[in-house]
Amino acid sequence: MIVGAQWGDEGKGKITDLLAERADAVIRFQGGNNAGHTIVRNGETWKFHLMPSGILYPGKTCVIGNGVVVDPKVLTEELDELRHRGVDTSGLRVSANAHLIMPYHMMLDDAGEARLGKLKIGTTRRGIGPAYADKASRIGIRVQDLLDEKILKKKIVAALEPKRLALRPFARDPRLDLQSITEEYLAYGRRLYEHIADTTTLVWDRLDDDQIVIFEGAQGALLDLDHGTYPFVTSSNPIAAAACIGSGVGPKDIDEVWGICKAYSTRVGSGPFPTELDGELGEELRQRGGEFGTTTGRSRRTGWLDLVALRYAARLNSMTALVVTKLDVLSGLDKIKVCTSYRGEDGAVFETYPYHQTVLHHASGEYVELDGWSEDISDARSEDELPENARAYLRFMEEFIGVPIVLISVGPGREQTMWTAAGLETAPGRAIPAA
Ligand code: IMP
Repeated sequence: MIVGAQWGDEGKGKITDLLAERADAVIRFQGGNNAGHTIVRNGETWKFHLMPSGILYPGKTCVIGNGVVVDPKVLTEELDELRHRGVDTSGLRVSANAHLIMPYHMMLDDAGEARLGKLKIGTTRRGIGPAYADKASRIGIRVQDLLDEKILKKKIVAALEPKRLALRPFARDPRLDLQSITEEYLAYGRRLYEHIADTTTLVWDRLDDDQIVIFEGAQGALLDLDHGTYPFVTSSNPIAAAACIGSGVGPKDIDEVWGICKAYSTRVGSGPFPTELDGELGEELRQRGGEFGTTTGRSRRTGWLDLVALRYAARLNSMTALVVTKLDVLSGLDKIKVCTSYRGEDGAVFETYPYHQTVLHHASGEYVELDGWSEDISDARSEDELPENARAYLRFMEEFIGVPIVLISVGPGREQTMWTAAGLETAPGRAIPAA
């Protein structure tokens, strides 16, 4: 399983894509098109929002699990683009039980943010929260409903009914016309028909045959609805436990949980970020790391690596291995800080992640300063090609978190990746062999 160990955007797509070569299936289990991942393959760039990362391997089984919220417009557009660029998409399977994002969910997302004003969450405005809310309220519309006109229409009416007041500002919006929504969604159903499946059984069959299945998380632990920085979180659970619910397997089916983290921190949207760098250095990291959202194009907030939050993410996920991405972005810094504890407003020191929102909002990072390196490391292909200080940085992380680093990424390209000694030593015996 691949999960985000920070606030999302850690590079999960690249790592999943890399590992997918050896896997029989890749399955997404939560989130929706609020996610975005960029894959660079042979100099070509691909940006996906809903599509599981293994899709670039011809015919690979790529599953959108029941826990995902699907905007069928986005999905059909991604399918069109892939086909247009000559990619075989026959392996895509979409759970019939996955919930749909409807036009009114996007309107409610917008209206909700506008209503919150200064307190807004900074959502991606893709309708994610309202779609999951309908699912929990049992008035959601599922992928299978796209295949039955009568049921679809009835369910749309039932879903719109309790929203009448909130949707009043959009009363004349043509996007809310019952007949046109129904027709539009039936057309998506026809387009997606060949991909709609009982994906739970599909995954069970793969596992029963001892095949390799990769579970691909979206967002990251600190955006988890239950364990993240609520209310500044997403509306699903990006942590490992959710993979079981969002795909239909049991916890014992999971052999490995790999947490992906950047060598520094970023966050999009509002909410506490104790290691945030506001000034010039923050801007420099943003520029060097290309820290602009794949989905919304928004500037990401940047900061030093937060080991308190990372250790919390490791425990939440039962992380068995760590993958560090974007190490190259830190090259050229004289000193690099890593946050090892927080200091609260009253001077109290926190070695662990504070559960109380107020404490977290006022906490600032306490740092250890490590020596930087000046070399460009984007061409390094093995750990011993890294400068000693870069290796020391990774060692510090690993020892603090207590989870071995198995892979290091030093650029967006597929080849800009190296296995560590720990990765090489253990990978061949693990579920996923080393490349
Ligand atoms: P929502 O998921 O669109 O409701 O947004 C809720 C919060 O999660 C906002 O702060 C978003 O910026 C953040 N978020 C959602 N998806 C991602 C992602 O893929 N990467 C980073 N942040 C995300």
